Amino acid sequence: MLANLFRRLVRAPILRRFLWRRWYNYLARRHADRRWTFMNYGYQASVDGQLALEPADEPDRYCIQLYHRTVSDVELAGKEVLEVGSGRGGGASYIQRYLGPATTVGVDFSEEAVAFCRANHQVPGLSFRQGDAEALPFDDQSFDVVVNVESSHCYGSMTAFLWEVARVLRPGGHFCFADLRAGAEQTLLQEQLAASALNLVLEEEINREVLRAMEADSQRKLELIQGQFPRWLGKAFRDFAGLRESTVWRHLQSGQARYVRYVFRKAAS
Ligand SMILES: C[S@@+](CC[C@H](N)C(=O)[O-])C[C@H]1O[C@@H](n2cnc3c(N)ncnc32)[C@H](O)[C@@H]1O
Repeated sequence: MLANLFRRLVRAPILRRFLWRRWYNYLARRHADRRWTFMNYGYQASVDGQLALEPADEPDRYCIQLYHRTVSDVELAGKEVLEVGSGRGGGASYIQRYLGPATTVGVDFSEEAVAFCRANHQVPGLSFRQGDAEALPFDDQSFDVVVNVESSHCYGSMTAFLWEVARVLRPGGHFCFADLRAGAEQTLLQEQLAASALNLVLEEEINREVLRAMEADSQRKLELIQGQFPRWLGKAFRDFAGLRESTVWRHLQSGQARYVRYVFRKAAS
């Protein structure tokens, strides 16, 4: 019931920003476990499509694979990368440690998540900053690549965010984006993307791959969250974590929700 109420409330753009911010601040404050550095549903291409990872990163394999797939069509080596909605920092850390950019900056509007990232990810070239996707705290043309993973559904205005992405990207820069939308929100997202100042390079639905990861990672996520939160938040957490049989799992199964990744490019001049 609580999960349903939350879902209904976040449909209103004005409430959406406020509620998500409270939620992510609560999570960072309440759950300081250093092992929990990702908050996405993950990606698994096929049973044998494995990415080479260091042993310490193995527990986060599926969440890392979602990042890897999201940026896989764009060369990051030597680039200045911005991640918007960097959460607990695992994705920005993966990008900086494995993909060779000059710098990666993670931005999140949860100040408590940013404090968690600063305390737990000390990697040369990697930094974190508090900021709002809809009013990014950077000059025009500051980055070569903007990355955004499973965060945009929280924004009050997707249009404002896309405007900001186009503003902070250098000419010829790329926007690598992955997220899910349910029902009529899918059409709305298509319209918002089509109206942006960016040019579409590719679009790929990844429901099957995300579902595969959700199923493979369910037990680990359950163990991470079990006993950490009050019982009355249990269903909300199962949905949030995307466990097997959760509402989001069922919606992705039925096609009522679509998880899509995109690459866009800003015109060269
Ligand atoms: C589901 S989490 C995903 C985090 C991370 N991308 C990952 O995959 O682990 C969504 C994140 O987006 C952030 N977020 C939501 N709205 C935002 C906004 N308007 N500006 C910046 N960050 C925002 C939240 O604080 C949260 O950390």
